[in-house]
Amino acid sequence: MIIMKDVSKIYNIGDEEVRALDHANLRIGAGEFVSIIGPSGSGKSTLMNIIGCLDMADSGEYFLDGQSIEQYSENELARIRNHKIGFIFQNFNLLAKLTAEENAELPLIYQGVRPSERKERVEEALRRVELWERRKHRPTELSGGQQQRVAIARALVTRPSLFLADEPTGNLDSKTGQDIMRLFHELHESGNTIVLITHDDAVAKQANRRIYIMDGRVEEVA
Ligand SMILES: Nc1ncnc2c1ncn2[C@@H]1O[C@H](COP(=O)(O)OP(=O)(O)OP(=O)(O)O)[C@@H](O)[C@H]1O
Ligand SMILES: [Mg+2]
Repeated sequence: MIIMKDVSKIYNIGDEEVRALDHANLRIGAGEFVSIIGPSGSGKSTLMNIIGCLDMADSGEYFLDGQSIEQYSENELARIRNHKIGFIFQNFNLLAKLTAEENAELPLIYQGVRPSERKERVEEALRRVELWERRKHRPTELSGGQQQRVAIARALVTRPSLFLADEPTGNLDSKTGQDIMRLFHELHESGNTIVLITHDDAVAKQANRRIYIMDGRVEEVA
């Protein structure tokens, strides 16, 4: 599902050149649960942004579901992000003014899904993350773990083929983080592909495969 060949991403700050990704090679098959682990500044978010079509590589090739990303326009990339990928972030990225159910519904509005279908899918997703009872709550009225569950529900509603999570447990205590990891395991068991980015080895070990990144270079961990 994900194939990266010799991908590099270079940032220039003044005279200095930062190789955020340095000839990275990566292969992730459909249905895998993979973690990407590395220290701060190693290039994890850069890698996630390219996998998630939020950013483009400077060189090398990236194929998502067999299609080279380079051929797409900005609009087409937005469509791919909206339909194929469920993003989950460290800081949840929920809209403060919207309730849990309104946040979860948002991607479906962008997709132009009709209201009755939206309602069904939001209910299904919020029940799956065990937050249906809190559907009328706004983010400030929810705990960190509950907010992350809303974010997962928002990722679920579009039925994406890939869940891409950048430090999803980074802002949570270890027990709450473990609850969120359990949800990822459930998603994986029901056939979803999951790529989870973390600097926490205990979290990374829970995936079926670990990929290590250091100074922009990608390596497999046995
Ligand atoms: N927009 C940017 N402009 C310039 N340099 C950047 C930019 N984004 C990232 N970098 C640099 O690229 C390198 C990789 O950054 P990246 O954010 O991918 O690391 P990370 O592994 O996600 O770190 P963290 O664990 O702290 O989130 C770092 O040296 C960073 O300073
Ligand atoms: Mg990062």
